[in-house]
Amino acid sequence: MKFFLDTAEIEQIQHYAALGLVDGVTTNPSLIAKSGGDFLAVIQEIAQLIPGPVSAECLATDVATMEQEGRYLAGLAENIAVKVPLTVEGLKVCKVLSDDGIVVNVTLCFSAAQALLAAKVGARFISPFVGRLDDLGECGMDLVASIREIYDQYAFDTEILVASVRPPLHVVEAATIGADVATMPPKVLAQLYNHPLTDKGLAAFLADWDATGKPRKIL
Ligand code: E4P
Repeated sequence: MKFFLDTAEIEQIQHYAALGLVDGVTTNPSLIAKSGGDFLAVIQEIAQLIPGPVSAECLATDVATMEQEGRYLAGLAENIAVKVPLTVEGLKVCKVLSDDGIVVNVTLCFSAAQALLAAKVGARFISPFVGRLDDLGECGMDLVASIREIYDQYAFDTEILVASVRPPLHVVEAATIGADVATMPPKVLAQLYNHPLTDKGLAAFLADWDATGKPRKIL
């Protein structure tokens, strides 16, 4: 399962990329606005930092301009995935860009029917937003399971990119279902490896060693 970082904060991306756990990055207009940087400059910088796919979302909502933006974004770097919304316009743009070999991530997916359409128009990634469904009292992970079943049934190669990840358990559930990617805010990635019992256990091991009076040195 691939891990993407869901952020446009350059320092965070640098920090977590150094761990060797980051396979790609997703951004959206809200995240880039929050970073305070210039849209295109931020995308280009991220694409240089991370070799894997970097999702850059179109701002236009009409077909012609969205396609133009998508082609421009795709030309910024070889690892750009053009993000389009799951609207009829977005599906049309996904089809033409995908037919031309451009990697497209169809975002804001909230139903299995939408995911089926995205696969049919050649999306490389479909992004079901699990946290936002959970917020409404639905089960976002049920949607991921349905998409997995449908895609496997027809051998679609569209990758399921679980988005709107909130608790670390979302990542574990996505992995259990067999999602291809989970994109997560940096703090969720940290929550995956931090555990109080690990810290406590390590402190106890070292305290026992220190009690021998010998230095903490093997070589
Ligand atoms: C994914 O591509 C989106 O940027 C993101 O996961 C949205 O998450 P949110 O619902 O926490 O805003």
